[in-house]
Amino acid sequence: MDAAELDAADPLAPVRARFALPDRVIYLDGNSLGALPGPVAARLQDVVTRQWGQDLVRGWNDDGWWAAPERIGDRIGVLIGAAPGQTVAGDSTSVQLFNALTAAARMRDGVIVTDAGQFPTDGYVADSVGRLLAREVVRTADPYAALRRGDVAVLAWSTVDFRTGQLWDTAGLTAAAHDAGAVVLWDLCHAVGALPLHLDRDQVDLAVGCTYKFLSGGPGSPAFLYVARRHQGGLELPLTGWNGHAQPFAMETGYQPAAGIGRGRIGTPPMLSMLALDAALDVFDDLDLDLVRAKSLRLGEFFIAGADAAGFEVITPRAPEQRGSHVSLRHPDALPVMAALIEAGVIGDVRPPDVLRFGFNALYNSFGDLARALEVLGEVLASGRYAEARFQVRPTVT
Ligand SMILES: Cc1ncc(COP(=O)(O)O)c(C=O)c1O
Repeated sequence: MDAAELDAADPLAPVRARFALPDRVIYLDGNSLGALPGPVAARLQDVVTRQWGQDLVRGWNDDGWWAAPERIGDRIGVLIGAAPGQTVAGDSTSVQLFNALTAAARMRDGVIVTDAGQFPTDGYVADSVGRLLAREVVRTADPYAALRRGDVAVLAWSTVDFRTGQLWDTAGLTAAAHDAGAVVLWDLCHAVGALPLHLDRDQVDLAVGCTYKFLSGGPGSPAFLYVARRHQGGLELPLTGWNGHAQPFAMETGYQPAAGIGRGRIGTPPMLSMLALDAALDVFDDLDLDLVRAKSLRLGEFFIAGADAAGFEVITPRAPEQRGSHVSLRHPDALPVMAALIEAGVIGDVRPPDVLRFGFNALYNSFGDLARALEVLGEVLASGRYAEARFQVRPTVT
């Protein structure tokens, strides 16, 4: 089938109208910053002018601000297969990683095993936690082999590799970690909203994730922490801010953690970002994530077929069960090639030194988008235009 036929048969095609995408832009970077859902602007306007402007400090009660981290956490919980009361929204992924990994390592003696090629913050945080708790940090590409050491306290792993788009088997690796006596902490950044997750069913211990990628929560939107209910009672989180206290408004001298997932709260939440995320999540209310996943896989296949035909080296695994929702190509001039693509209206990104990344969000990307992106990519390369001086740019932070 060609792109037009695939788009005509796409049950998710109408969902694109829920997003305010600019004209003449093909957006293939929703795996970095998700596109703006239409209703967010009006909701934020109300939050600012009515809730903040009129209700003032009463907003913490009257507008439900205080309860928002747990309420929105539960909304995310629906998308990650978590029953209510196990997910809380707030802070950044890096902060959540530090909090969760420290708490996880305190649950067991032994080393911390983490992914050698993962997103930098995960490795930096693991090293810091290792120093603080005097634990060895083992970085590996083969978690199953590392678990066979027999002295692993925590396996901290990313569901989808940020560079290659490789998808790991959450259920299988969690079970292997448990068999080895370890607890598991998943980083769901590149998976949440892109594919169905089943944290409760898979007996995951802890997880964190961001909401600004496939959930379209907005730039710097709050991250989230999942703690399986069975671990909540004894969980010793290191960041003991007053929001996570059992009785925050008693203003007691000593820290007493809240009984449930509320102990995962730290300080005053960034309410504007939090409520923008809340509005963005409305997009997912009636969505079937199995459908989203099926389309995302087909988008990936379509793009890989085009990249193969153009002679690219595709570094993303081809097997559907090993592929997330972005496809990465290797090219020695990745940076200028992407700069030229962006100028031509096709927005993807680059991961150094030589990876072109194209993210597919099944909610707003069409097969037509991908066909056009491949066409522009072919044109940029064939013309040699990317070698022009103005494309010799520094990478942006995305
Ligand atoms: C796997 C992974 N973890 C963490 C982060 C970012 O952490 P933070 O939200 O603290 O910037 C990213 C960002 O792309 C990521 O891909």
